[in-house]
Amino acid sequence: GTASAAPEELGNGGELHQLAGGDSPVMTTAHGAPVQDDNNSLRAGDRGPTLMADHAFREKIFHFDHERIPERVVHARGYGAHGVFECTESLADVTRASVFAEAGKQTETFVRFSTVAGNLGSFDLARDVRGFATKFYTDEGNWDLVGNNIPVFFIQDAVKFPDLVHSVKEEPDRGFPQAGSAHDTFWDFVSLMPEATHMTLWTMSDRAIPRSFRMMEGFGVHTFRFVNDAGESSFVKFHWKPVLGMQSVVWNEAVKINGADPDFHRRDLFDAITAGDFPQWELGVQVFDDAFADEFDFDVLDATKLIPEELVPIRTVGTMTLNRVVDNVFAEIEQVAFMTQNVPPGIDFSNDPLLQGRNFSYLDTQLKRLGSTNFSQLPVNAPRCPVAHFQRDGHMQTSTQPGRAAYEPNSFTGDDRGPREAGSDGHVPFPAPVEGETRRIRAESFRDHYSQGRQFWLSQTPVEQDHIVAAYVFELGKCEVPAIRERMVANLRNVDESLAGRVADGLGMPLPAASTPAAPVVETEVSPALSILANAK
Ligand code: HEM
Repeated sequence: GTASAAPEELGNGGELHQLAGGDSPVMTTAHGAPVQDDNNSLRAGDRGPTLMADHAFREKIFHFDHERIPERVVHARGYGAHGVFECTESLADVTRASVFAEAGKQTETFVRFSTVAGNLGSFDLARDVRGFATKFYTDEGNWDLVGNNIPVFFIQDAVKFPDLVHSVKEEPDRGFPQAGSAHDTFWDFVSLMPEATHMTLWTMSDRAIPRSFRMMEGFGVHTFRFVNDAGESSFVKFHWKPVLGMQSVVWNEAVKINGADPDFHRRDLFDAITAGDFPQWELGVQVFDDAFADEFDFDVLDATKLIPEELVPIRTVGTMTLNRVVDNVFAEIEQVAFMTQNVPPGIDFSNDPLLQGRNFSYLDTQLKRLGSTNFSQLPVNAPRCPVAHFQRDGHMQTSTQPGRAAYEPNSFTGDDRGPREAGSDGHVPFPAPVEGETRRIRAESFRDHYSQGRQFWLSQTPVEQDHIVAAYVFELGKCEVPAIRERMVANLRNVDESLAGRVADGLGMPLPAASTPAAPVVETEVSPALSILANAK
């Protein structure tokens, strides 16, 4: 902003009053009454007491007292921007999703990047996963692709998510550590959950300390479904590739940056966009059918696994450009509500048990955080296509949908009648076959916890491997309980003997016996696509 041209005058108490006039609008209460004096509350006599009659004062303090809302239970610290997605290749053969209908089609987006563990006020360069959540305002409703910068997840089943998050958040009896993963509880949990081994390799790698949000990949993580006009379905994985290429800092730099500028990533994104240097990502898809999925050694419904690009190449289908910073961080970045269950016709869920759990969690948590069932009416959340339904009332209702009937079926006509079902034009759930007995036993196909971690480790260049070893040594070195370190190294022996040996050496401990894998470790192809250095631009 620029200096105000408004007139100023000194009050009787010698205080400065900046008055409305010129291009300075009149200050009002929230109800529109012009405010006489914002420097002095109304008092009886010369020295008080303050009077209840000062409604402008009471309203100001009342609103301030209620400024804070709960921070997100995870991904509290984030930053975002508006953008546009342009489809560069029609996907009409595999999906009826209108966002992919034809090359050249543009859809507005909003993206929020985040760290996972730290609170709202934590620092940007914590060693952590980064959230990469995109809202596509499609003409058939919002599509929220709520992903991370790592293509796999720590756990296979959403029932363990509260445990995972409790293990990484500050410990309940001491309130620290507030961010990062360098502590006993996190390593205790993951060492007892061998399925987390693959993702911890990624979080110990340079991917967990990105140079910039602009230089990160993004992944939808889960296997989703595409459904085309004919009702045929294929599986799909979503990938964002940064046009600037991937880059990371090293740990030594991360620690210094956190001290010198905890806002490093948000400042970088804001500066780039306001300078007109718009960051871009290519959206790619891996599309494959059910029969092909059955050929893999692992289960495509298991979020601790990725689909190697060697087996299913990535097809680039569009470009997203972030071209506008927000006007107001709270109204947009804080109040944006992503929900995995927001999918348009043509995109559907798979039976991934992590995704199925998320589909409950996100709606539920938004009510807690935003406080009203009408959060979908906030401008950043509101679809940019027509909305019509018979949901009514609730806190903070702003919709004034006309008509007498708020139910269906009804026999009114015109505006009184309200909307009607879309039928086959609506979101038709893919008729996936369901069979078998109700059970809690984890499928055999979910039991290999090490092969892909091994593939990731072997894909890394020697420098990247050095960083991974150093990160494990640093992190496990911060664990006070020796048994936790031992259990972790015992698990790493199933990934790679040299990795486990180097970590044990770094920790100055003897090599423990390897833990017993739940399924044999298989040799998979090494994927150069996983190395940042091999992918650097
Ligand atoms: C928030 C990604 C698993 C519950 C987020 C956000 C991202 C994300 C990116 C931040 C959204 C934003 O910027 O506003 C992921 C990924 C997962 C995963 C990629 C696994 C593949 C889960 C699971 C649950 C869960 C299993 C629960 C069962 C939540 C909740 C929030 C959240 C409650 C806070 C949402 C809010 O308050 O706005 N997640 N998540 N997530 N996630 Fe997840």
